[in-house]
Amino acid sequence: MITPYYDHAGITIYHGDCRDILPHVTADVVVTDPPYNAGLDYGAGTNDKREWGEYVTWLANIIDGCEAVVTGPVFVFLSVNGLLSLSAYKRPRHVCVWDKPMCFSPRLGGSPFLPHWEPCAVYGRVCGEGGRVPGYHLPDVWHHNTATRNGHPCPKPDSLLLQLLGAVPGDVLDPFMGSGTTLVAAKQLGRKAIGIEIEERYCEIAVKRLAQEVLDFRPAEQQPIQSSLI
Ligand SMILES: C[S@@+](CC[C@H](N)C(=O)[O-])C[C@H]1O[C@@H](n2cnc3c(N)ncnc32)[C@H](O)[C@@H]1O
Repeated sequence: MITPYYDHAGITIYHGDCRDILPHVTADVVVTDPPYNAGLDYGAGTNDKREWGEYVTWLANIIDGCEAVVTGPVFVFLSVNGLLSLSAYKRPRHVCVWDKPMCFSPRLGGSPFLPHWEPCAVYGRVCGEGGRVPGYHLPDVWHHNTATRNGHPCPKPDSLLLQLLGAVPGDVLDPFMGSGTTLVAAKQLGRKAIGIEIEERYCEIAVKRLAQEVLDFRPAEQQPIQSSLI
């Protein structure tokens, strides 16, 4: 039995290495954003500059671990280099694209190309293959600008996770939770979610974000009438 760092209203956070925690959790869908092996400094718990073979072996084992504990799909955001390296080792069922038009990230490794998109590899059971996740439909290109920094070096935009989780039903798991964007989106959609993060300071950021008010994205005519206006 592992003690959660945070557990409230269907949202649970575990502070630790996801390799240790994954065998103790279950969910329906994984949406995750592992370290990109791009030399980012997340903290002492993460080496983000490994030899590519070592990186893909590590990541493929964790994706296997996710597939073993979820009933549905496993969405994994990657760099283009990460996708190319990982695909040769563990071929995805599909690849979606996060198009980020206003991204000004630097060119990586002497590349002539400015990165304006990120792949999201899909593993696990996709729609229509049984399991507990019923059918869903979503486009495979997602247009969202990058998020502003929130104390984490590379948070995903809330709107991206809201689109993805809004389309794919079920309880959610993010084994590389970072500042908790997946959990914040799950909370806004009224879904159960589990996040795992190795750095405690990002767990703290996630807890603060989860404590904030849930925004109501329903059209005005579907929102409850404020009693002061009646
Ligand atoms: C790309 S970031 C995720 C950012 C997140 N999507 C967000 O919106 O804030 C990857 C995260 O994985 C964490 N991490 C690295 N190795 C880990 C491991 N073995 N287990 C759990 N978390 C890990 C890093 O500390 C980092 O915060």
